[in-house]
Amino acid sequence: MSYAHAFDAIKHRPVAVVGAGTLGRRIALMFCSRGGEVRIHDPNAEQARAAVDYVAETLPGLVADGRAGAVGRAVAHDDLASALDGAWLVVEAVPERLDIKIPLWGEIDSLAPADAILATNSSSYASRLMNEKIADKSRFCNMHFYMPPRANAVDLMSDGETAREVLDTLEAVLPEFGVLPFEAKKESTGFIFNRIWAAVKRESLAVVAEGVATPEDVDGMFKANWHMPAGPFAMMDGVGLDVVLDIENHYAAENPHLPEGPRRLLHEYVDSGRLGVKTGEGFYRYDGSGGRA
Ligand SMILES: NC(=O)c1ccc[n+]([C@@H]2O[C@H](COP(=O)([O-])OP(=O)(O)OC[C@H]3O[C@@H](n4cnc5c(N)ncnc54)[C@H](O)[C@@H]3O)[C@@H](O)[C@H]2O)c1
Repeated sequence: MSYAHAFDAIKHRPVAVVGAGTLGRRIALMFCSRGGEVRIHDPNAEQARAAVDYVAETLPGLVADGRAGAVGRAVAHDDLASALDGAWLVVEAVPERLDIKIPLWGEIDSLAPADAILATNSSSYASRLMNEKIADKSRFCNMHFYMPPRANAVDLMSDGETAREVLDTLEAVLPEFGVLPFEAKKESTGFIFNRIWAAVKRESLAVVAEGVATPEDVDGMFKANWHMPAGPFAMMDGVGLDVVLDIENHYAAENPHLPEGPRRLLHEYVDSGRLGVKTGEGFYRYDGSGGRA
């Protein structure tokens, strides 16, 4: 298979996005940002429709701000085969469960064009862990988005067998769509940025668990020194402390030497139902609209 794809060669072919939730619709938005067509497939037709609406409502604003070049078209396809037809790239953003991702990738592999690049948006699983049903593993990789169109870095990571041309093609082409690729040069849980962010969260939790500082102190120092609008504790409250704990448990399962204090502190909050913004209380208290009470 040849990956002599240049932007000129692929821009007339659609991108397929499989899974139309929080991230799928944002990924579709980015691939619509230079014109062209994005096909969205989700077994939940309402989700696919909401994703199409999200793109239609959000894209004109990005074009007006100069953050997108042209208004492309997002189209919902109930049928997976028709969503994949002719696609140069297939991005999967379905729930973070291998029992869903592994069989789905077998299906996508058998239906997608033979030269299509295949990428999973998984946050915590290496693509190697879900490629067993993909015949040609050299065309598969991790392509992990953050929260576009606001946070536009993308991690790329091989599944262990990804062809160099596939990663080179993505590195050359993704900036055309307003996203900035950074390649993890080795398999790494959390890729590059999420792993560094995990360390920041962990040490922030540790200084509070040890009684060295309060969440307000830590967040106050981030704001004073780095001019960040929110510090780590406010950001963890926004993500949800149950999700933060799951992520930290995932890292700890791989690295048993990680300190337990941060997880114990998170457990105290989770066990008492204080999950952050979504329950009205975490490290801070919130009003009904998610503002600080
Ligand atoms: N939410 C985030 O902040 C975030 C950030 C980066 C990466 N991710 C990753 O993106 C992926 C999706 O996360 P999300 O938050 O968008 O999830 P979500 O729950 O918002 O959306 C998942 C979508 O997948 C659909 N789906 C379920 N089974 C499917 C199937 N077999 N085929 C097609 N669609 C199917 C669901 O109907 C739903 O619309 C996960 O792997 C997650 O780790 C999430």
